[in-house]
Amino acid sequence: IANGLGMTPPMGWNSWNHFHCDINEKMIKATADGLVSSGLAKLGYVYVNIDDCWAEKTRDCKGNLRPKKSTFPSGIKAVADYVHSKGLKLGIYSDAGYYTCSKTQPGSLGYEEQDAQTFASWDIDYLKYDNCFNDGSRPTIRYPVMTRALMKTGRPIYISLCEWGDLHPAEWGFNVGNSWRTTNDISDTWESMISKADENEVYAHLARPGGWNDPDMLEVGNGGMTENEYVVHFSLWAISKSPLLLGFDVANATATRAVAHIVGNEEVIRINQDPLGVQAKKTRMMGSREIWAGPISGYRFVVMLLNRADAGDDDTVTAYWDDVGIPAKSLVEVRDVWEHKTLGRAVAGNISATMPPRSCKLYILKPVG
Ligand code: DGJ
Repeated sequence: IANGLGMTPPMGWNSWNHFHCDINEKMIKATADGLVSSGLAKLGYVYVNIDDCWAEKTRDCKGNLRPKKSTFPSGIKAVADYVHSKGLKLGIYSDAGYYTCSKTQPGSLGYEEQDAQTFASWDIDYLKYDNCFNDGSRPTIRYPVMTRALMKTGRPIYISLCEWGDLHPAEWGFNVGNSWRTTNDISDTWESMISKADENEVYAHLARPGGWNDPDMLEVGNGGMTENEYVVHFSLWAISKSPLLLGFDVANATATRAVAHIVGNEEVIRINQDPLGVQAKKTRMMGSREIWAGPISGYRFVVMLLNRADAGDDDTVTAYWDDVGIPAKSLVEVRDVWEHKTLGRAVAGNISATMPPRSCKLYILKPVG
C-alpha cells in the first residue's frame, strides 16, 4: 500500500511464537531493552510487536478496546512511549472478525474506524490484522475497511495482513497492506519451516517495495531446529524478502547471544533489506538439491545452494550462472555471506559446495571484468 512504509521488509520482534498469550507490559518493555542492548536494534530490528491477548474481553461503554488491566495496567500508550523513547516502534494486533483467534478479546469487524483511531491515539506504528471468527464475507471486503480507517488517521501505520494465504492475498494485498501472509502458522520444526518457504515462493513475482510476501515469523532461537536448520531458515527468509520478525525471547540476553551470529549477520540482513526488493526464486530443483536465486542492487545476485535431504551423506550442490541469470561465460566474484569470505579469484561458469543434509550455502555473486 502506498503509505510510504515497508520500502524494505519490516524487521523487529513479535510476541506470538515464543510467548503466545503469556504477555504483559513488563516483558514488552524488557524486549525493547533487549533489542537495544544486544545491538539488534542498530541492525534494523525496530518493531516491537504485541500479538494476540493484550486486551480485555469486552469493550468499554463507549465501544473502545481496553488494554487488559491485569497485564497492561499502564495502558498501551505508556508502552508506546517507552518503546519510542528507545528509538523503536510499537506494533499491535487485531482481527477482521468478531473475536481474535485466542477468543480472549474482541475483533475489529464493525469497529474499524473506532479502533484505528484508538491505535493512532496510542501512537501505534504497525498493525497485524488477523482473520479469525469473521462473518464469512471475503477478506477483500473486510480488510480494506481497516486499511482505509488506518489511512484516515493520518498516522503512518504499517499494515500486516494475516489472512494465512487462503484466498491468495499476494494477488490483492498490494492495495491493502504492506505485507500479507502466504501460509498458515509456522511451528519450530524443519518440516514446517521449509514448507512455508516453498508455499511462499510461488508468489515471488508479486513481492515488491511497499508490499511483501510473509511466510510467517522467525523461529530462530526457540530451540526446535538445529544450528544448520536455523541458518537455512534465516537465509530463506532473507532472500525471500520476508519480514524479519524475531520470535524468541529477546529479553533474555543468553538466548540472544546464542543466535546473534545468525539473526545478527549483517551481510544476510543487507540482502533482505536490499533496495531492489526482488524476492529470490527457486531456479533449479535436482531431487533434494535446490538453487534459489535473485537479483540485488549493484548488478549483483544472491544465490543459495540448498541440500534439503533429511539425512544421509554430505552432498555436492552446484549452481550454474544460468541458474542465477548471469551470462554463462562471465567471471564472477563470489562472497560467502555466512563464512564472511570472498573467494580469492573470480569464478567461471558455476559454483559448487559440499554440505550436510538440511544445510545451505549463501553467496553474493558480482560479475567482474
Ligand atoms: C493466528 C496467526 O496466524 C498467528 O500468527 C497469531 O497471530 C495467532 N493467530 C494469534 O491468535
